[in-house]
Amino acid sequence: MSKNNNYKLSADWSIDSHISSLDKYNELYNESIQDPVGFWSRIAKRISWYKPWNKVRDFDFEKAKIKWFENGKLNVSYNCLDRHVESGDGDKTAIIWEGNNPSEDKKFTYTELLFEVKKLANVLKKLGVEKGDRVCIYMQMIPELSIAMLACSRIGAVHSIVFGAFSADSLRDRINDSSCKILITQDTGVRGKKDNIPMKENADSALFDTPSIKSVVVVKRTGVDVNMVEGRDVWWHEEMNIADDRCDPVHMDAEDPLFILYTSGSTGKPKGVLHTTGGYLVYVSFSHHIIFDYKDGDIYWCTADIGWITGHSYIVYGPLSNCATTIMFEGVPNYPDYGRFWDIVDKYEVNQFYTAPTALRALMKEGNSWVKSRNLDSLRILGTVGEPIKEPEWKWYYEIVGKGRCPIIDTWWQTETGGVLITPLPAATPTKPGSATLPFFGIHPVLMSDDGKEIEGNDVQGLLAIKTSWPGQMRTIYGDHQRFIDTYFSQFPGYYFTGDGAKRDGDGYYWITGRVDDVLNISGHRIGTAEVEGAIGKTNGVAEAAVVGFSHDIKGQGMYAFVTLMTGVDSSNKIRENIIQSVVKEIGPHAKPDNIQFSPALPKTRSGKIMRRILRKVAEGDHDNMGDISTLADPLVVANLISDSAQV
Ligand code: PRX
Repeated sequence: MSKNNNYKLSADWSIDSHISSLDKYNELYNESIQDPVGFWSRIAKRISWYKPWNKVRDFDFEKAKIKWFENGKLNVSYNCLDRHVESGDGDKTAIIWEGNNPSEDKKFTYTELLFEVKKLANVLKKLGVEKGDRVCIYMQMIPELSIAMLACSRIGAVHSIVFGAFSADSLRDRINDSSCKILITQDTGVRGKKDNIPMKENADSALFDTPSIKSVVVVKRTGVDVNMVEGRDVWWHEEMNIADDRCDPVHMDAEDPLFILYTSGSTGKPKGVLHTTGGYLVYVSFSHHIIFDYKDGDIYWCTADIGWITGHSYIVYGPLSNCATTIMFEGVPNYPDYGRFWDIVDKYEVNQFYTAPTALRALMKEGNSWVKSRNLDSLRILGTVGEPIKEPEWKWYYEIVGKGRCPIIDTWWQTETGGVLITPLPAATPTKPGSATLPFFGIHPVLMSDDGKEIEGNDVQGLLAIKTSWPGQMRTIYGDHQRFIDTYFSQFPGYYFTGDGAKRDGDGYYWITGRVDDVLNISGHRIGTAEVEGAIGKTNGVAEAAVVGFSHDIKGQGMYAFVTLMTGVDSSNKIRENIIQSVVKEIGPHAKPDNIQFSPALPKTRSGKIMRRILRKVAEGDHDNMGDISTLADPLVVANLISDSAQV
């Protein structure tokens, strides 16, 4: 093992950890690969089933058919709530909610949360929601968001959460794609210095064109006056006041849908990733327990937004199914100041802290005093997710935040995978800054060559694929199974293709190198270049646009847009502003380009295909070696692109 880049914790750390050594990891990992059926049938018993399954797994990647725990019956909200109350943990804190303003917080015990969930389930039923109906949730990080998810799962409704920064247009498209019956939202939102995020107003704009929506439930978060549409909109608090608090959980089949979550791909509109009930819950419950070495009484905090998969799996379903205490944070790391994360860690004595590299980079830049002035002794495990973590922020996290005591758990996974697939285990895996290290139990990663062969051995690089199914895997793209096959199973027949590249080093450790398709990862947010290009293309005066990523100190990747204007239209600040406004309208503020370069022409092959590799080089400022440009229809375009880039 490479010596100076290898972090192993002292032996006493691992005493009573769930997986206490690398040998134990290897033993269990080998079992999980050699006997997946035996392994997962044992693990699945950690949750409660009304009726056991009669087949553990059945998958065929060529047809993209994936089933786990077939004919097993269970209910997710029962597993996350009733089960703990029945076994005497009703008084334990389930959710700690920390508001954007440090003076605002709330706690819900398991009993209290169950009470709210049952009532909301009845509200939804009263509004006509039945098993299998889709419910859209468009909210900021308030407790009602988790209550809404659990209430849906209680009655078998399928939730589709739309991240609160998405625009009205994005919300509308997502609602229509899965024909949601109900929308749950809030009056306005607060986040950092923004104290009036117009959630209901955005929802109203979206709802001009969403024929499937029958009712809207509105949470009063800020009390700001909002328009309520007679016969369609109801107030959450009014309905909850009169709702019955008895509601039996529906017995769901393991393969019944639990939720849809839209994510961006390299082409076309966002895909509705569909996760089902049994396999997903088994996977997130088990992985949360092992990866965060969660023990009774621990206070666990994942800083993600529930609008993304990390929040679904590791704020709500994983922790609550494990009877954990999970923190939900409404705010941002720099409000009221750069010490906010660390204040929250000290306030609740957080043991496991899980965040994104982009947040670490932003905080690191502000200096160590924000961290050093806090105690932070409660911290035991520090996780990261969402994008590659580079050595400087890894070391800062390890040395300054964790004071050299806490393992850094760099978890690699995707919306599609449901839970973490490649990760160190805190007491077992020696870590190396920047490597997600080794596969989790039951996961069989492989590196593929461009021509579809598995690359054997170590010290190699290739395209990351997964060879066999795992319980948390997505089952389809909502309403478009063919697209599911085409996107994930056609590149390498018989494998799930991740869209990421990776290296495997001499110790068999994985190092994720990033997306190999046209998907960007901006501050951990996944954004399809095609979507942004489409939005820019709708601006008056724009003829064509191409968007690529470039290295960005804080965001990991920044977004660089090359725009060709129509003949006779001049570049101006006005058109630049219009382009940004179009992106904000079509997608949301998180998808705004960092740089816009106007160029009279884009580099195209004779068949009209844009050569993005050239644009990436220009965006990086790496002008020296453009590679082979002989296939370009007009090689002179390149010199113009380089000279114009000086003005960006
Ligand atoms: O490129 C990988 C990157 O994020 C992509 C998945 O994005 P999303 O579906 O939004 O899910 C993010 C949260 C699970 C992956 O294809 N990614 C995620 N985690 C890591 C990562 N890249 C490097 N290291 C990671 N730990």
